[in-house]
Amino acid sequence: MEWYEEAFGDLYPILYRHRDDEEARRMVASYGDLFDDREPVLDLACGAGRYTVAMGERGLRVWGMDLSEPLLAEAIEECGLFGGLVRGDMRCLPFVDGSMGGVMSMFTSFGYFESDVDNESVIEETARVLRPGGVFVLDFINAGRVKLAPPETTHRENDGYTIEEARSLSGGGRFVVKDIVVTNAGDGFHARFREQLRLYTGGELVKMIEDAGMRVNAMHGDYDRGDYDPRRSERMIVICER
Ligand SMILES: C[S@@+](CC[C@H](N)C(=O)[O-])C[C@H]1O[C@@H](n2cnc3c(N)ncnc32)[C@H](O)[C@@H]1O
Repeated sequence: MEWYEEAFGDLYPILYRHRDDEEARRMVASYGDLFDDREPVLDLACGAGRYTVAMGERGLRVWGMDLSEPLLAEAIEECGLFGGLVRGDMRCLPFVDGSMGGVMSMFTSFGYFESDVDNESVIEETARVLRPGGVFVLDFINAGRVKLAPPETTHRENDGYTIEEARSLSGGGRFVVKDIVVTNAGDGFHARFREQLRLYTGGELVKMIEDAGMRVNAMHGDYDRGDYDPRRSERMIVICER
């Protein structure tokens, strides 16, 4: 089983509870005007639907797509999302050519595959489903900052679970790997899994986007549309046009 088929299960909402609805609303308030509310917009890798909800609240006609059954189930049960959710793989989008006015890929839902060809296919598929002139917002981790940071192990507590995360670089700095151990002393629960991301630089991403037939209009470093600094920004948010 690949890491991304295992890591986004029932424990994911506990691990990333701090990435909440408020953060999604803040981001959509700042970037939402890039999309046309008369056209469908895709929340690519929507997870439990926090961006799908925030985009819908803003009046956008949003579709959510994700691979994870537990997270899609949570989107239905917790957020009342149903009609606009699709299960699929981001390398092969279940939408026809030119059917979307916009695509959003939020909170580092990219770079999950070992092979560059697979990661490139996500960008190519995004370009395929966008109409000419459609907008793609890619919210990726800032690889430059991650590469400069020393390896680190952190501990935190959420809902009675202890979460230990050990972060390191691998493949000569091409990947960042997080080994995660989750325990619950109360009921003896113990789980161990891994997250792995290909650390694309801004230049590599721009090339991939251009090779897929899109152009980059802007890059921002945070959810408030602040400037992008390759060494310091937490995020690398790329605004593209097909
Ligand atoms: C970091 S989460 C972000 C979820 C959501 N965008 C958010 O901000 O809450 C990444 C998401 O990518 C999904 N995912 C992982 N591999 C996928 C694949 N091959 N195709 C589609 N979705 C995938 C996971 O199930 C998970 O929901």
